Amino acid sequence: MARTLTFKIFRYNPGEPGVKPRMDEFRLTEIPMMTLFVALNKIREEQGPSLMFDFVCRAAICGSCGMMVNGEPKLACRTLTQDLPEAVTLMPLPVFKMVGDLAVDTGTWFRMMNERIGGWIHTDKMFDLQAEEARMPNKLAIKIYDADRCIECGCCIAGCATANIREDFLGAAGLNRVARFMVDPRDDRSTAQYFEVVGTDEGAFGCVGLMACHDNCPQQVPLLDQLAFVRRKLAFAGLGFDKK
Ligand code: SF4
Ligand code: FES
Repeated sequence: MARTLTFKIFRYNPGEPGVKPRMDEFRLTEIPMMTLFVALNKIREEQGPSLMFDFVCRAAICGSCGMMVNGEPKLACRTLTQDLPEAVTLMPLPVFKMVGDLAVDTGTWFRMMNERIGGWIHTDKMFDLQAEEARMPNKLAIKIYDADRCIECGCCIAGCATANIREDFLGAAGLNRVARFMVDPRDDRSTAQYFEVVGTDEGAFGCVGLMACHDNCPQQVPLLDQLAFVRRKLAFAGLGFDKK
């Protein structure tokens, strides 16, 4: 027999500051293979037309549907209701600026992070349009690809104790991005230059090692390895073993 799910959903519209935040309750009959994304759309179509939440791709690619599901950050489009209990509480991701109800602005945070770490290839070499594409060993390409699988959903940041108490913390997504450029031979930055950017409590040394980021990442980006890599690299550079 189909289950009846009860959704308690956080409601607040910053555009109406006079209306206090509240939790609204909705009931829905579960259908086979229903995702949270489908459930939220049914709720909006049939019961709560003003409910705000984000989605674009429905395929865990765009990173826009992150939300707190019974206290854990998850993507709504890849969470099956059958894996949840009958009572589901949905809250917006913390840390990010609230847009309304379950929708938050992750874009501004990720832009700030990318600007702070210089999230692009830094080189003085002129780009030659006619030149053959530079070859790269497969192992290295896979390492870069692994980091580039981040979809900027913000789940690692929302579940991070440090990011929740200090807004200047770069978090796992930021350190993963730094690791991505550190291994890329096309980036000319030295470890000393990276140290200037992330060798602080707002960067690699602010993490207290709870590693919820690693457990919460829907893309299984190896965040634990990336943090260890960045810290090792900075420490070795400090000891004079790494000159790049
Ligand atoms: Fe999301 Fe994982 Fe990227 Fe963090 S590292 S933003 S959890 S995809
Ligand atoms: Fe794109 Fe969920 S809708 S990741």
